[in-house]
Amino acid sequence: PSKMAKGAEKTGGIARTDATGRVEMIPELLAWSSSLPHDRTFVREDILGSAAHVTMLRKVGLLEAGDAQKLRASLLAMYDAAAAGTLVLEDGEEDVHMAIEGLLTRDLGDIGKRLHTARSRNDQVALDLRLHVRDQAARTLADVATLATELADRASREKDVVLPAYTHRQRAQPVSAAFLICAWSMQLLRAADVVAQAVTRANESPLGSGACSGTSLPIDRSVVAHLLSFSAVTANALDTIGDRDFVLDWTWAGARVLLALSRLSTDVIDFTTSEFGYLRIGDAVAAGSSMMPQKKNPDIFELVRAKASRGVGNVMSMLTLVRGLPTGYNRDFQDDRQAVLDTGPLVRGATGAVRAAIAHLTFDRERCLASVSDGSTQATDIAEALVRKGMPFREAYKATGQLVHLARERNVDLASIGLEAAKSINSAFDEAVLAVIDPRIAVAAKKSAGGTAPERVEEQIAWVRAAATELGYKASSVPTLDDLRRAVEA
Ligand code: ARG
Repeated sequence: PSKMAKGAEKTGGIARTDATGRVEMIPELLAWSSSLPHDRTFVREDILGSAAHVTMLRKVGLLEAGDAQKLRASLLAMYDAAAAGTLVLEDGEEDVHMAIEGLLTRDLGDIGKRLHTARSRNDQVALDLRLHVRDQAARTLADVATLATELADRASREKDVVLPAYTHRQRAQPVSAAFLICAWSMQLLRAADVVAQAVTRANESPLGSGACSGTSLPIDRSVVAHLLSFSAVTANALDTIGDRDFVLDWTWAGARVLLALSRLSTDVIDFTTSEFGYLRIGDAVAAGSSMMPQKKNPDIFELVRAKASRGVGNVMSMLTLVRGLPTGYNRDFQDDRQAVLDTGPLVRGATGAVRAAIAHLTFDRERCLASVSDGSTQATDIAEALVRKGMPFREAYKATGQLVHLARERNVDLASIGLEAAKSINSAFDEAVLAVIDPRIAVAAKKSAGGTAPERVEEQIAWVRAAATELGYKASSVPTLDDLRRAVEA
């Protein structure tokens, strides 16, 4: 027999009774349907769940003290081996749950047969996934918080860089680079909020739901919940074992972070072109061309954009996986694995890449300023200056439009059209009105809440910093897997 079939012979029979049939599943089908190749990623979560379950079974008297101790010790030894990368789970099992129970039974004999009391793989896999999502989401939160803090630092250093903001990818109005960086940060922090929600939503213990309706045995679900730091136990067993909403939420949260990073990336990609020229890309993060000797490409940021596409794909795959499934557990759920396991590394990888690469971007101050120095992006500021003198906005808008038109006709910049020409259009034009053509003055003048004035940007930077700190706290309030191991051992 193949290695796979032998594995199945060893323990693959655990989830089979006479009723299931007297022969093993065809090895090819077992291999094809096994989730073990993916499950290996959360083997530590699975072991922790079992160890906590053992403590609960002991507490309510369903296990003898000696048996519980042996089971827990064996499980924790497996946890340590898994953490060290030396735990071998051979192919030939349906999933990680069977593989671990098989190892345990091989290690402890009949005692191992008591582990699965009052439990099903349906609530077990839900537990593993919740632990995994909570852990990955918390780490993501910490990473995003670090990036946001660094963006706040960067914004503080780029207050004097003035460049155009865009609408319709056409130059619109002058802003500071600090203001632009704050805009990037706000979107990122909104996404991080969704990640924090994903932590909260994963944070209920499903264990003890059994196959679909609970158990007649006298378990205490709160023991496991407490040991594994869940805030509550789930409310309905049938709902619980058919619930992957927390995975959907996690993929959505991850996609939101990636969307924020991908839009930032597009700004960077555009701004490093010679057409824009606002950003220079450092050698250490630029890629070259194998053919064109002159190239210095922003590949890292293009890859971030591509990762965002995959993140969106993960949301789609979860939506389509769950849609229309009947209430209860369905094996279809097992195909959540790719999306759920991909999300953490995908998002954290992209977050780390942006963090590393952004530090090697420099604003070209002169080029930035030059792009708003002809004055056209300050047309709105001129109109507003006329409004300050009492002119109705529509009139001011019209007069400024005429001034822009006149400048074009004379083939000069708005910035150099001069007071005399302006007065020929409307006597309300004066030196104070035309002074706002200076982009730095225009930026400083927008003191409305959320505007570009230095004091407003200062507030925004402070807000980003505070929000990032808060997210950092939230992230560190979630225990690591090693923390849980200690809790379960105590
Ligand atoms: N491998 C399964 C999964 O990942 C575990 C639960 C299987 N349950 C079952 N009744 N076959 O979803």
